[in-house]
Amino acid sequence: MTQPLALPIAYLNGKFVPVEQAQISPFDRGFIFGDGVYEVIPYYGGKGLRAREHLERLERSLDMLDIPNPYPLDQWEVYLSELVAKNGGADQAVYIQITRGVAKRDFAPPKGLVPTVFMMSNTLARPSQALYEKGLNFVSLDDFRWGRCQVKSTALLGAVLLKQEAVQMGADDCVLFRDGYLTESSASNVVVVKNGVILCPPKDNLILPGITYDLMIELAAQHGLPLEMRKISRREVQTADELWATSSTKEVIAITTLDGKPFGNAAHAGKPGPLFWKMLGLFQAYKQQLRALAAAAE
Ligand code: PDD
Repeated sequence: MTQPLALPIAYLNGKFVPVEQAQISPFDRGFIFGDGVYEVIPYYGGKGLRAREHLERLERSLDMLDIPNPYPLDQWEVYLSELVAKNGGADQAVYIQITRGVAKRDFAPPKGLVPTVFMMSNTLARPSQALYEKGLNFVSLDDFRWGRCQVKSTALLGAVLLKQEAVQMGADDCVLFRDGYLTESSASNVVVVKNGVILCPPKDNLILPGITYDLMIELAAQHGLPLEMRKISRREVQTADELWATSSTKEVIAITTLDGKPFGNAAHAGKPGPLFWKMLGLFQAYKQQLRALAAAAE
């Protein structure tokens, strides 16, 4: 049996529909040009984790492409909650995609197009305890993506090819470097720990400013974990004590193998380090609070 495409109910252009009935025109500029943006928003116990921040980032992505935001942010939140509820609540990752709309193929976008709005949702399964303990296996690759990585664009061919290359090399994913400095991974941010300090690449045009990355920075500040945001050289990554990936679907996870070798400080090489366990604990506590709020609101 083939896998279901997503949870049963999707949203397309103003209507909730069974996911297999969601259809768009092949003339959609999202299909022809990848002319669109997206978001992936985690819901726990039916409640969004930083949904507003995801929607604000979505608006920034739309602004950079000069696509009008079809709905005010409050309306988006209502649609998102409705979609999650229609798909049974609990833990879900909601995907939103907005494209510039349907038009005759022409690189210059015509004025006045009506954006296409699509949402679907998938069950959100956090990594297993066994996977947290094992960590992930990444390879270093040169980041050949474009110069506007801060836009959460649906034109993801660069990321797809990099991930494909990593998987063909037998790895889970890649750590990307541009001009000798760490950027991120194909679909997550990457941070480094050295001498007890969490080092984070700057939020410039070379990475997606992750919502999980921001939450990690906030949690570090609240709990007195030293953190610096600055450019990180390849050498600093290679000699770091710990390496983590963060994203809405992975939360925070350790990278324990890099380029085929056990990674990290000799005291725990090839295994997640102590600061990782500390940060994971802070994330879990934060999510527990969110679930408790969701339960109290019912
Ligand atoms: N990816 N960097 C890139 C290139 C990403 O695609 C993502 C998210 C992140 C992490 O951002 P956040 O913490 O806001 O999820 C960083 C999503 C999960 C995806 O494409 O499925």
